[in-house]
Amino acid sequence: MSVHIAAKKGQIAKTILQPGDPRRAKYIAENFLDDVKLVSETRGILYFTGLYKGKEVSVGASGMGAPSIGIYSYELFTEFDVDTIIRIGTCGAYNDTLKVYDLLNVEYAASESTYAKFAWDIEEDRLSPPGNVFGLLNDTAKTLSLNLIPTTIHTSDIFYRKSQELPEIAKKYNCTAVEMEAFALFANAQYLGKNAATILTVSDVIPTGEFITADQREKALKPMIELALETAILM
Ligand code: HPA
Repeated sequence: MSVHIAAKKGQIAKTILQPGDPRRAKYIAENFLDDVKLVSETRGILYFTGLYKGKEVSVGASGMGAPSIGIYSYELFTEFDVDTIIRIGTCGAYNDTLKVYDLLNVEYAASESTYAKFAWDIEEDRLSPPGNVFGLLNDTAKTLSLNLIPTTIHTSDIFYRKSQELPEIAKKYNCTAVEMEAFALFANAQYLGKNAATILTVSDVIPTGEFITADQREKALKPMIELALETAILM
């Protein structure tokens, strides 16, 4: 049991899938895992452990933003001996070279966030996914014939803002899309010597306003969930 996760030690698998939304964690547990057990529901942030193709895997939410994923991923790594976190999320595309439903593998997460600097004295404003999961996801995508696009994204602390201009850091690193968690997850994993990756489905294209509707989302996220699970069982 940790400050924010009520599971007992040993109730969380070595590899965990981490969506932002607790209900998505529940959907994955109920539709993709066997012998599932709810192991924590503190603050409504649900964690489940079950079997995928006979191998133990957990799935649990991160909440939104760097502070939230910073807390949950730290406690998973340090209190539950988790080795690998695969974040599965959605993102907004910054330009129309990406389309809704495109699947991205985050090669770099660039951010103005002070999280890495003030938590761990990590000075870089662009982090890569620590460990070998990034590469394994690319390999698994090939075997599943999925088009997984390696790219640089912007991890932003801001969802609503005054200016519609592309943020400076997104210009600096040619970021193709924006989400709100990968940078903090990578910072924690880097500092703790753990494995982490982030795969994202494009849910909206910011300049055109195109987006995946709420009822299209479940189906839209299926390839990403299968890619994460097929990779998790290789760890
Ligand atoms: N901004 C930040 N995070 C997001 C977005 C966005 O437009 N879309 C999905 N996650």
